[in-house]
Amino acid sequence: DQRTSGIEQPTTSEAEHMSKQPFVIGVAGGAASGKTTVCNMIIQQLHDQRVVLVNQLNLKCLKPHEHAFVFLNLLRDSFYHNLTEEELARVQDYNFDHPDAFDTEQLLCVMDKLRHGQAVDIPNYDFKSYKSDIYPARRVNPSDVIILEGILVFHDPRVRELMNMKIFVDTDADVRLARRIRRDTVEKCRDIGAVLDQYSKFVKPAFDDFILPTKKYADIIIPRGGDNHVAIDLIVQHIRTKLGQHDLCKIYPNLYVIQSTFQI
Ligand code: ADP
Ligand code: C5P
Repeated sequence: DQRTSGIEQPTTSEAEHMSKQPFVIGVAGGAASGKTTVCNMIIQQLHDQRVVLVNQLNLKCLKPHEHAFVFLNLLRDSFYHNLTEEELARVQDYNFDHPDAFDTEQLLCVMDKLRHGQAVDIPNYDFKSYKSDIYPARRVNPSDVIILEGILVFHDPRVRELMNMKIFVDTDADVRLARRIRRDTVEKCRDIGAVLDQYSKFVKPAFDDFILPTKKYADIIIPRGGDNHVAIDLIVQHIRTKLGQHDLCKIYPNLYVIQSTFQI
């Protein structure tokens, strides 16, 4: 009993507020379709518009003129299984685009902890060495908004169920291939022959067999990725509406969105 124990219980509205889950946005699409670019544009616009994403904030503590910080995490779906020595020796035969390449159990475990307000350490995957223990893990704190991005984030129904909003970035195959060649040769220092072999052997078939079929789960399909400013504007407006920030913005003019992790 609140009166006899002397412990202050939250009021109903506070309890509702505290039990709110983060708003999870899934962003899928082919490799080099522009997923990261789209995510960064959404985050930038939310930031510029001082969008109020309120879940874990205790607004009771704030006075209208004070600054408040709202946290957003961008999780890249780089939860790849570690390769065995044998697989590493023949890495050109490894299919990084198959759903089995991803450690979905680990991703689910991370999401579960974040949704329950616990911080997590996420391995920092290195595309050059194919290892996730080269760099220190990143500490990710629970946040109000989580953007989960990756080629196959719509594949597992358990991951899909976590999402409040699903976006599929739809970019032509020739554009994706051209961008991939540039990125993998320049940033990942790979040989162009190896990039083209990987594309025809694994990337293209996996897109057709596993990624494209998940497009049907999307709430929003963005043609042309980051070039589609109209689509990105509409998505940002929708997030604003969903999070019901309009009234809060009037009361708290100094609320900011902070991206607490930049890339995982
Ligand atoms: P994904 O996350 O789907 O792999 P990225 O957003 O990382 O895709 O984009 C892949 C590459 O293509 C990057 O090098 C990026 O700079 C480039 N890129 C993405 N969108 C555009 C665009 N609209 N115009 C030109 N280059 C782009
Ligand atoms: O960033 P993006 O969504 O393009 O990353 C997915 C791509 O990364 C996949 O097409 C996969 O082939 C590639 N990949 C790779 N080497 C790794 C891990 C993933 O080329 N070690």
